[in-house]
Amino acid sequence: MVEILSGLKRSKVLLAQYKQQVAQMKEQYHVVPKLVVITVGEDAASMVYVGQKEKKARAIGFDFEWLTLPETITQQELLSTIEQLNEDSRVNGMILQLPLPTHLQERLLLETIAPHKDVDGFHPINMGKLMANQATLLPCTPKGIMDLLAAHHIELSGKHVVIVGRSLIVGLPLQQLMTHANATVTICHSRTKDLASLTKQADIIVSAVGQPGLISKAMVKSGAVVIDVGINRQANGKLVGDVQYDEVSEIAGAITPVPGGVGPMTVAMLLQQTLQCTCEQHHINMDALINQN
Ligand code: GUN
Repeated sequence: MVEILSGLKRSKVLLAQYKQQVAQMKEQYHVVPKLVVITVGEDAASMVYVGQKEKKARAIGFDFEWLTLPETITQQELLSTIEQLNEDSRVNGMILQLPLPTHLQERLLLETIAPHKDVDGFHPINMGKLMANQATLLPCTPKGIMDLLAAHHIELSGKHVVIVGRSLIVGLPLQQLMTHANATVTICHSRTKDLASLTKQADIIVSAVGQPGLISKAMVKSGAVVIDVGINRQANGKLVGDVQYDEVSEIAGAITPVPGGVGPMTVAMLLQQTLQCTCEQHHINMDALINQN
């Protein structure tokens, strides 16, 4: 029987723990973590994702601000908005939701976010630390995948992991994390020749491409762990991943569903990192908060 890796269940456990920590922080230190999310324009998927982030952040007692900026905003205006948030001591963490309209220079904007408030882990300083295996703020989806695997006692050391997708948000940082955890990692992408011959060798497959149905049963080794990062909305409104879930479930050892797999883990890690930033900015020992629960 295939094991279902439910990110939804795991995230509920984590959020309950964060909620207690936030309450304790409020009571003992009179500090309330504050997360700011910036969106530019009206990207439909972003609206849904940020809605989830807001709902969960508020549910655990965070202060949450959603800055909805017009599509017409200039690079300079957005830079000064970010700089103001950097200076605002009430703001503990911020993210700039991607994608941005094409007239904006995404990399320059992400580099303007103060590294100690960069709860998405997209700043080059944080990415560099990740590469050097130093503790730092991490991109939330890869961090969530690592947590989900650990929670299910899925060992990485010595395993062959095949990641499909080389994005800066998922594929590349996950490659680093898994390599540091002693896995052997292969990254595949749109120019990879004979994808199936590589995925077929994998003990763990991670698909982060955004192509419905990309991973079929024939591409998966019996007993492999399959992590589906794709979130694709079909014409009928149904959400599907990159993996042909029903048929791959017949052969995989473990699999993440869509929805309810990786998505809720991303949100949980965002909140965890905001909590972590709040503790660091107020010199609060986060481990002490955990131990008292
Ligand atoms: N767009 C899709 N996923 C993400 C994410 O994790 N963070 C940000 N900022 N934008 C995204």
